[in-house]
Amino acid sequence: MAGPDNRDAQNVTAADEELILVLDFGSQTAQLIARRVREQNVFCQIVRHDLTVERIRELAPRGLILSGGPASVYGSGAPQPDPGIFDLDIPILGICYGMQLACRSQGSQVSPGDTREFGRTACRVVEPGELFAGVPAESIVWMSHGDQVQDLSDHFTALAETDTCPFAAVKHHTREIYGLQFHPEVTHTEHGGTLLGNFVRSICGCRGSWRMSEFIAREVEALRARVGDKRVICGLSGGVDSSVVAALLYKAIGSQLSCILVDNGLLRAGEADSVVETFQNHFQTDLHVVPAEDLFLRELAGVTDPQQKRKIIGKLFIDVFREEAKSIPDAEFLAQGTLYPDVIESGADPDGPAATIKTHHNVGGLPDELGFELIEPLRDLFKDEVRAIGLELGLPEQMVWRHPFPGPGLAVRCLGEIRKERLETLREADAIVIDELTKAGLYREIKQAFAVLLPVQSVGVMGDDRTYDDVIAVRAVQTDDFMTADWYPIPYEVLGRISTRIINSVRGVNRVTYDISSKPPSTIEWE
Ligand code: XMP
Repeated sequence: MAGPDNRDAQNVTAADEELILVLDFGSQTAQLIARRVREQNVFCQIVRHDLTVERIRELAPRGLILSGGPASVYGSGAPQPDPGIFDLDIPILGICYGMQLACRSQGSQVSPGDTREFGRTACRVVEPGELFAGVPAESIVWMSHGDQVQDLSDHFTALAETDTCPFAAVKHHTREIYGLQFHPEVTHTEHGGTLLGNFVRSICGCRGSWRMSEFIAREVEALRARVGDKRVICGLSGGVDSSVVAALLYKAIGSQLSCILVDNGLLRAGEADSVVETFQNHFQTDLHVVPAEDLFLRELAGVTDPQQKRKIIGKLFIDVFREEAKSIPDAEFLAQGTLYPDVIESGADPDGPAATIKTHHNVGGLPDELGFELIEPLRDLFKDEVRAIGLELGLPEQMVWRHPFPGPGLAVRCLGEIRKERLETLREADAIVIDELTKAGLYREIKQAFAVLLPVQSVGVMGDDRTYDDVIAVRAVQTDDFMTADWYPIPYEVLGRISTRIINSVRGVNRVTYDISSKPPSTIEWE
């Protein structure tokens, strides 16, 4: 898969004149930098740290941000930018490692500081200038570094300091090169947004013209040009990403779009219906709902191993999808809801400074198997941007805000054997969890919540009778990126209502437990 810098020219020029590039030196927060810049309504992309100056010139960014990174600038094999970037006459902001690189390139010394600094630190402005305009004389910043710039050479002047770091922020005397030893992109830095805004707007001169409505208009045009009079197939799952892809394509090419929903019997309550309601009744797309529940349940019968379940479901999905796609003979394209974080994570250069974190299921896979040309209209977007587009395109709020759902669906939440009646029990319990969280106003704050049906029975009493029935676990997590997650503290009274409703109304359940484990070491799903 191509790295993030090898993108189509079409994609990269999505916001033609106003582009900021983040050169990624292996930072865990490169995406956050891009997010914060986009909050200034300026388009921003993350690229390899060693993107050549020729390519940078072609892309014509308004500014460059050099990210942080885990290496030491003086270490052997430390990732370096193309040295020509400092002569490009494009404003540069180096963050942490990026600052050390920028200063070192102009003759400053970098070495380990006397104290390693991690966490919140008071930072005092020594010379505000354009970068610190609107930032109070003293504020809290987030530090995370061992090395620091030890002397400024003749070229730099200090803009801010902390107790242990005399050069917390610096500026080149004559060139537009800035450095921040702290991280403006994280929310712990009180005025980080102002600092990045100052860099992007005052120093780089961006007006801030990146808007979702413009993105839609531009993307619709690009899709029409690319697709011509051909047909596009889009797989729908009920989730927000595929729904937004379909709605965007519908706007662009209308009746040339065919959607396929594989109803595998493992969807959430009401999910298939809501896809039909939206894409058949509201958007009137050519929607193919393939009833495949029997097939999936037959193939899954007796299987309890989670990976085996995933394998079976993945293979069946492709078989069923391929078969249905055959009934749409003139299709040449397959649309997928790949998002920017998937591209960055999966596309990272294996030899690059940031190790590939996860390989996402959306990237690759289906198109290779099916021989279609791939269309990924959301490749440049973060999740909240996708939601904003979904709302703008007229998708129902409930669909736009729906929590993520794994491809293998309820199969990995129905621990042990998968049978129709067990799935029904789980589906009913899950709907209650979601309904109570929604009523309590917590649904949007929680990133993912669901019920899990455990593969054990427990003893209970109902009336005068002893019962020996199923157990439901409730899972709810708070997370930024799903790579790590904290269990969400649902208030006791809400938990109480969930439990009472499930036990009273879902037949065969006599106990509800609450999962209070974080990731790591647990995962979000139970299987
Ligand atoms: P875990 O359980 O790994 O989940 O902490 C992280 C996120 O990924 C989702 N997930 C999956 N999504 N196919 C998917 O499409 C899968 O096999 C799969 N397993 C987990 C999970 O719901 C959570 O959002």
